[in-house]
Amino acid sequence: MVLSTGTNKTKTAVFISGAGSNLKSLIKFSKLKKSPISVNLIITNNKLAKGLKYGSIFQIKKKIINFKNKEIAEKKILNELKKNKIELICLAGFMKILSKNFIMNFKGKILNIHPSLLPKYKGLNTHQRAIDNKDKYSGCTVHFVNSKLDSGKIILQKRVNINKNDSSDSLAKRILAQEHKLYPKAILKIFSP
Ligand code: GAR
Repeated sequence: MVLSTGTNKTKTAVFISGAGSNLKSLIKFSKLKKSPISVNLIITNNKLAKGLKYGSIFQIKKKIINFKNKEIAEKKILNELKKNKIELICLAGFMKILSKNFIMNFKGKILNIHPSLLPKYKGLNTHQRAIDNKDKYSGCTVHFVNSKLDSGKIILQKRVNINKNDSSDSLAKRILAQEHKLYPKAILKIFSP
């Protein structure tokens, strides 16, 4: 992946819509010496997103963007990204679909984490669908974002067993714990020569 290297870390924006536990893990990772990224901006479509608290805790700039009009929202975001010299975007529980035009502006520089073993279970309700299909395992995937939903090139995946008594919530919890490890690993992978 062609991203800026050298002594400075790659300026990264994390997009969230909810709890932000992946945001937290990315911020913690970014503080390690071995991390090639710094988290400089948090973008959300949801002013009530619990994850916004990590912006305050770690003193990272936050921007709440109203998505009523997607075109205007994306223009505002692109503006913020430019202003903050952002070079990489990590989607982390961001529940809006970005337009083709937006993605083209950051081609090859947007990552996403998805709670299934893609290409299985694109979209929503991944855990319940895996349980309903009586799958023996599910997992999570970090991938590049392209213009098709949950379809870009896969960087890393982690498998998680589904137990007999698993509910969607219990499975989600175990997969989320793996997501927190997988996202940093995937970032290290794309930066390694
Ligand atoms: C995570 O499980 C993430 O994989 C999923 O939302 C959750 C966000 O949790 N993302 C998607 O479903 C994207 N389609 P978090 O806010 O605690 O990081």
